[in-house]
Amino acid sequence: MRKKFIAANWKMNKTNAQAEAFVKEFLEFQKPAGLDADIVLCVPFTALGKTAELLKNRCIMVGAQNMHFEQSGAFTGEISAEMLLEIGAKCIIIGHSERRQYFGETDTAVNKKTVKALESSLLPIVCVGETLAEKESGLTEKIVKTQTTAALSGIPAENIEKIVLAYEPVWAIGTGRTATAEDANEVIRYIRGVVKSLYNESTAQKIRILYGGSMNAKNAKELLSTSDIDGGLIGGAGLKPNDFYDILRCV
Ligand code: PGA
Repeated sequence: MRKKFIAANWKMNKTNAQAEAFVKEFLEFQKPAGLDADIVLCVPFTALGKTAELLKNRCIMVGAQNMHFEQSGAFTGEISAEMLLEIGAKCIIIGHSERRQYFGETDTAVNKKTVKALESSLLPIVCVGETLAEKESGLTEKIVKTQTTAALSGIPAENIEKIVLAYEPVWAIGTGRTATAEDANEVIRYIRGVVKSLYNESTAQKIRILYGGSMNAKNAKELLSTSDIDGGLIGGAGLKPNDFYDILRCV
């Protein structure tokens, strides 16, 4: 049984003060009965320290949304894994479609960042997914296979369980248009098959694969009760404590 994994991706939202207000309100909620899931808040770099401090000794991890794959050096404006770890990050989103689309992040960079995150004991949440044009051209499987294969290149089987994959169809992100639970589960089952072909059945059964794209309290239950969807990467509905909590209650 794979433990569910529910991560909020705040993107470029929330100052330190706003992050603090979120966490304080969120911590007032009772843990939903029987909830057994990894919970993560992926916050902007500037809010990492504050959020990690507020969540110290709580069962909620803090994550970042990007990092550089080099240890250190002349990379103006970049942040290293070591810097993230020091400030309290435990997870890192890699290859989000917004980074691929707007910041030219390539499959090669996604792979290097994933390798570096693993080396640094940061848990990588590696995103894959097709655009609307690719979906309409029947290319979904080809795209997720290419992106998954590239992201995992050179990573040994024993490290694969330390990675979380996220299938995020680009057309479903921030649009209110969710993939049906059946369709999302089918693509995720396909991605699990790709992992099996690259490694083996037991590795494929262990890796957690999330769905992301307009997940909210209304659709989460159905998405999370499928055979292969192991959690969610949640943007809009992760910005308000009660919305995020309502998703956790669906686990
Ligand atoms: P959304 O974003 O839930 O607002 O669609 C998901 C994501 O981009 O990770």
